[in-house]
Amino acid sequence: LPIKIIDNLFLIPSNIDFEEFAKFLYQNTDNQTDEDFYFSKLLDPIKESFDIIIIDVPPMSKEITRNAVTSSDYVLISLQTQEHSLTGAENYIEELNKLNEKYDLNLTVVGLLPVLLKNTGTVDEYIIENAKEIFGESNIFSTIVPQMERIKRFDINGITNHDRHDLKVLQKYNEVTDELITRLNFYENEVN
Ligand SMILES: Nc1ncnc2c1ncn2[C@@H]1O[C@H](COP(=O)(O)OP(=O)(O)OP(=O)(O)O)[C@@H](O)[C@H]1O
Ligand SMILES: [Mg+2]
Repeated sequence: LPIKIIDNLFLIPSNIDFEEFAKFLYQNTDNQTDEDFYFSKLLDPIKESFDIIIIDVPPMSKEITRNAVTSSDYVLISLQTQEHSLTGAENYIEELNKLNEKYDLNLTVVGLLPVLLKNTGTVDEYIIENAKEIFGESNIFSTIVPQMERIKRFDINGITNHDRHDLKVLQKYNEVTDELITRLNFYENEVN
């Protein structure tokens, strides 16, 4: 159900009944492989129509994560600067590796994107330094998303571009997008 937002941008909205996805899988599949590839099969017919499909995955659902991952070529991990995110990311990558091997997915982690909880926090700096050591500096986005009050207002008013606070947020996410595309190009060219 892709819905056109603007030229070149379509969205597949979620719905409250998606909450039942795990239960749905258990009732409608009878082995682990069918369960893990259910979404991928649904996505296949529309894949050719798009350059990039981004799947925004909620935290904590094993079934959703596995289905998203089996549908994907790349994984971007957002890393909030708090200790449990670091261990979370480590566990997550371990899970990815298992899926990657089990199904021969050819998955690539395109990078970890740091999102600061506090802009001048020493903990935040410490987490990023630690992440560089654990995952390798080249795997950490050099663009960092800072805390920006305006983003909270976007939840209420929608995304606007009226003043310099709006522009600051949009500029930052443009940087994130540019770095993502650069990284994707790097891996795409490496493969070919
Ligand atoms: N860089 C930021 N600066 C300030 N507030 C932010 C920032 N990023 C996100 N937020 C606020 O935190 C809320 C949650 O952010 P986001 O939806 O990106 O997180 P999430 O982990 O994907 O959450 P969910 O589980 O709801 O999907 C946003 O609605 C926004 O109000
Ligand atoms: Mg989210």
